[in-house]
Amino acid sequence: MVEPFDAVDVIAAKRDGRRLAAEQIAWVVDAYTRGVVADEQMAALAMAIYFNGMDAGEISQWTGAMIASGTTMDFSALSKPTTDKHSTGGVGDKITLPLGPLVAVFGAAVPQLSGRGLGHTGGTLDKLESIPGWSSRMDHAAMLGHLSEVGAVVAAAGDGLAPADKKLYALRDTTATVDCIPLIASSIMSKKIAEGTSALVLDVKVGSGAFMKDLDSARELARTMVDLGTAHGVRTSALLTDMSTPLGRTVGNALEVREALEVLAGGGPADVVELTVALAREMLRLVGIVDVDVAAALRDGRAMDRWNAMIAAQGGDPAAPLPQAAHTHTVTAPETGVLTGLDALDVGVASWRLGAGRARKEDPVSAGAGIELHAKPGDSVVAGAPLLTLHTDDEARLPRALEALESAATIGPAGGTAPGSVVFEQISAR
Ligand code: URA
Repeated sequence: MVEPFDAVDVIAAKRDGRRLAAEQIAWVVDAYTRGVVADEQMAALAMAIYFNGMDAGEISQWTGAMIASGTTMDFSALSKPTTDKHSTGGVGDKITLPLGPLVAVFGAAVPQLSGRGLGHTGGTLDKLESIPGWSSRMDHAAMLGHLSEVGAVVAAAGDGLAPADKKLYALRDTTATVDCIPLIASSIMSKKIAEGTSALVLDVKVGSGAFMKDLDSARELARTMVDLGTAHGVRTSALLTDMSTPLGRTVGNALEVREALEVLAGGGPADVVELTVALAREMLRLVGIVDVDVAAALRDGRAMDRWNAMIAAQGGDPAAPLPQAAHTHTVTAPETGVLTGLDALDVGVASWRLGAGRARKEDPVSAGAGIELHAKPGDSVVAGAPLLTLHTDDEARLPRALEALESAATIGPAGGTAPGSVVFEQISAR
């Protein structure tokens, strides 16, 4: 086959700050997937994009090319509207667990395609796999069956969806080109659009534990993704939410499942409940389901019933005890006062070092490892009282985890401002 472009010309165009033509983008993404454009050429192009950006049209074409590199899913056979949520990744972010069953209570279908954790952020599949028997493996027919009967499903994102992104993301990871808004937006949205949901709410995290450390860049990423989804026919909106401190009071796989169960039983930490309810309302609003009391379904057991049905449909035993780590270690508050900060990144890294996360994608994770938070920012703490409990299967992991936590907590005098809402703002379609 005669290739219509030369990779070197495409790289040089972006290096020199020029706009790439739609045909060049379609070709370079396809040729990279086929192995005609080499890794080093794509790495150079990603770096040129990192420095010189892409405009809205280029990002849309790039996203379209990544979608076209693989298969797309189709849920049009369902009698319910599909609506989904995607989080840009955070520490203690177990929201997907209660959210799918909660939204399903109101007659929408939630086809969550999730991944495993890499680095300091956890993955939904790792969390759910701590439930004995639960499996994410299923074919499309089984997925349709679960969506029509239960209304919520969590499946592993298969290799067929946006394979160009899979290859490019692995390359970006090793070439310092991950934190680039056009590349993040097209990566996330190519997978979500290929997934075939009719509506999508993006939870764009802001703060130390997130990709986006400040509100302005989170706003830009959210706007880019909302515009991309809308342009591709998916009703899309975004919430910008706090990731300066972990969500809830647990970080780690089974520990987070335990907390999700508290939320489904009508309790749980206020920030997790607030965000779950806000995202559920928005997912339902996008598919025209309004004037419903979302929080009531957490209090009266309807969401828990859906959870039990969802876990059982995927082979899990919702009543089975969750795994616990072999060892615990308590960190106490060094002084009396008010906890003014507990850094999300530090806690995420510590939990990872305890065994809750993986350094390479083929590594196993420990179901029981992680960290329990005995105080959240704004809470009073007393010198010598427990602040954090570390859980691990391997005591040799403790020193490095403790090292990551050395300056995680800040304690100040009583008074000051109470912590505000976990949701900062919403970005809707224009
Ligand atoms: N998540 C993705 O799927 N892609 C990115 O580029 C960043 C986060």
